[in-house]
Formats: sequence, C-alpha cells, structure tokens
Amino acid sequence: MVTRVCVVGSGGREHALADVLGRSAEVVVTPGNAGIPGSVPTPPEEVEADLFVIGPEVPLVDGLADRLRAQGALVFGPGADGARLEGSKRWMKDLLVAAGVPTARHGSFTEVEPAVAFLDTLGDLFVVKTDGLAAGKGVLVTGDRAEAAEDIRAKLSGASFGEAGRRVVVEEGMTGPELSVFAVCDGTEALALTPARDHKRVGDGDVGPNTGGMGAYAPVPGVDAELVLEVMERAVLPTLHRLRVEGVDYRGALYAGLMLTPEGPKVIEYNVRFGDPEAQVVLPLLRSDLADLLASAAEGSLRPVLDVSPEHAVTVVCAAPGYPAAPRVGDLVDGVEEARAEPGVQVFCAGVGPGPEGGLVTAGGRVLSVTGRGQDLPAARERAAAGLRHISFPGMHARSDIGADRRG
Ligand code: AMP
Ligand code: GLY
Repeated sequence: MVTRVCVVGSGGREHALADVLGRSAEVVVTPGNAGIPGSVPTPPEEVEADLFVIGPEVPLVDGLADRLRAQGALVFGPGADGARLEGSKRWMKDLLVAAGVPTARHGSFTEVEPAVAFLDTLGDLFVVKTDGLAAGKGVLVTGDRAEAAEDIRAKLSGASFGEAGRRVVVEEGMTGPELSVFAVCDGTEALALTPARDHKRVGDGDVGPNTGGMGAYAPVPGVDAELVLEVMERAVLPTLHRLRVEGVDYRGALYAGLMLTPEGPKVIEYNVRFGDPEAQVVLPLLRSDLADLLASAAEGSLRPVLDVSPEHAVTVVCAAPGYPAAPRVGDLVDGVEEARAEPGVQVFCAGVGPGPEGGLVTAGGRVLSVTGRGQDLPAARERAAAGLRHISFPGMHARSDIGADRRG
C-alpha cells in the first residue's frame, strides 16, 4: 500500500504527477516549485517515501534511480543503464536496429568527412542530432545539404553543443504527423496510456523555433486502439525485450516519439520519462489509481488493466516573453485561482517562483500550463481557452491553435 510518494522534478509534468498521485496518497515534490503544493527543498535521497517517481531525464541519466534503489527504495524510473536510451542517441538507435524496431536509417560519427559523405546516401531531407543530451535543442531537420554539413561541423567541433555534440547521429528525414505514446513498464510488460500529440514550435501554425513544448492534446483523432497496439507490439515490447537481453531491467515510463509515416509508425526517439506538456493531458484522464499503477511497475508486477476517462484534454503553455531564446523572469502572474475556478480546468505550474503576498512570479520560460477537459476535442479546447483568459503576466505568449489540427 503506497501512502507517501516522492516526485522528483520541478516542472508542469511533476505538478500533474503530484496532482494525480495526490488523489490516493500523500505527495512530496523535490524540489518542486512555488506553485506545486508539497514542494520541499530536501534532496530525494533524504526524503522518506513508499514510492519515488522521477520526472525529468537529467537525474535519471545521472543514476538517481540507482542511488535510491541502493537505499532500498521503490522507484519508478529507469537506472542509468536504461536512461542511456535518452542520454545517447547512438546507443538508442543501435538498440532499435538490434530489436528490429522501425526507425529512420542512420549513421553515427565523430569525424566530419564520413558524416558529410553519409548525407549523400540519404534522400532529400537531412537530420543531424547531437549524441548527448541537449535539452531538446540538438536536432536539425533540413532539406539543405549545405546547412546539414555546416551543422555537422559545428556540432563535432564542440562549438554548438559542447561535449554533447562531439558525436553526431545523421539520419534520413521522415515525414508524417507525430505521436507520443507513453508506456508504463515493469521490466518485462508494458501498458500504453492515452496517445497524445504535442506542439513543439513556438508559434501558431507550427512556425518559429523549437521549444520544450507549447501545448498538447489527448487522445489524438485518427489514432485508434489498433494503432497503439501496433506501436506496442512493433516498438515498445521488442525494445523492452532487447533491453533485457542487454541486462537492463527497465522499470519506468518509456516515451515513444513516433512519426506516422506512409510506411507505418516509426520511432523518432525514445525518452525515459513522461513528456512535458503531454503528461498534463494524459495523466488527468487516468481514472486508475496512479500511485498503485506506478508502484506495481516499480515492483516488477504491472497491474494489467487501466481505467481511462472517455474525455479529451488540451493543455496550453503560457510562456514568458523571449522564450525559447532568452525568457524574461520576475513578472507577477495573475489569475491562476480564477482559471482554476472554471469547470473542467486545471493549472499546472512550471517556471514560477514565490511572489509578494503569497502570489507567484515568473521564473522560467514555460511558466504554467492550462489544461481543459471536455467531451470532445473542441470542448476541451474551449475549456482550456476559458481558463487561459484569466491568466496574465507582462509579455505572456501562448499558442491559440493547440489541438486544432485534425491530422490522424
Ligand atoms: P528529438 O529531439 O529526437 O525528438 O527530435 C526533435 C524533433 O525533430 C522531433 O520531434 C521531430 O519533429 C524532428 N525529427 C527528429 N528526427 C527526425 C527524422 N528522422 N525525420 C524527421 N523529423 C525528425
Ligand atoms: N514534449 C516533449 C518532451 O517532453 O520531450
């Protein structure tokens, strides 16, 4: 029986985790933020809890799950071995190939010449990625071969991404709508949550620079149970199996970033955690006891059934002026309680700090996200918009078209 859960992290995803876990358990969040109830500054290794849920990739890649398990804790989140799926794109791609999972054809390189020569074996869309973690910014997708070659040089020289770029993965560009599928894994078995789609570009109509994510919606029209089953059977389960062969007991969230290509779904990448902001739509739709579900995965005996609401959810991120390049911080945030008073609306806090009189000020690029739930996608969009109308801070920007595209 899980009575006390510790969530590690400080973003909107962790707020959503804390909120949904809080339906059945006491929750502490470390370090959390000024907008997440139960936030404590105590390091996770010093927190007492029946279950630890690690939100972001950096502590996972850094081995926090291993350290907590060594202390005897029950942990939802892979060890450093499994987290290499996100920590090294080369390792991830090699594992996918070994597991026979459909993905873009690729090569990995530490030298400029063979990397540039590999471009000529690709079609007319080129992708250049840093091998290491680059906070979601290490990927170039371009139809311009010269730009791709220049990017290879900048990454390998260490000029653009430091050590993370000293090895690059070069791959063929794929086309099609994207899809995020989160699987809760217990080392052997996996359960898919509601499929979601996020919007990474800063501006309406998917224009402007890439961000950590400006909004998301779930479920995705046109993505039926059969497609999710195909993703599980052709990607997630073979990946888990291959991880076991390599000695990795993967207990945590496996996030399959997919492209729905004309030849079927292909894996763009794996992340070793829930997505942010997708968690802010997927988790609120869950009716099952999340603490019990994640504990069962952490114990290696996943509960086989999920109860999910038939509703739809849309979340819209409110971003600080200057985000993603250089967000301005320190502005007063207004209207959070008023937004929460709207029916079917939740507000999840991310880049916020303590403000005057118990209020909040902006403290990061993605300040908060407003989730609306409704009987269909348009109703959920309308709810999110109703919540959003109350939120304001100087220079705030938010997309108005989250969930408006109907591509399947
Ligand atoms: P990643 O950090 O690997 O998720 O890549 C960020 C984004 O780059 C993805 O969400 C895709 O939109 C795009 N991307 C990555 N790899 C490819 C590819 N092989 N073909 C087309 N787009 C890609
Ligand atoms: N929403 C994209 C991510 O969490 O990486």
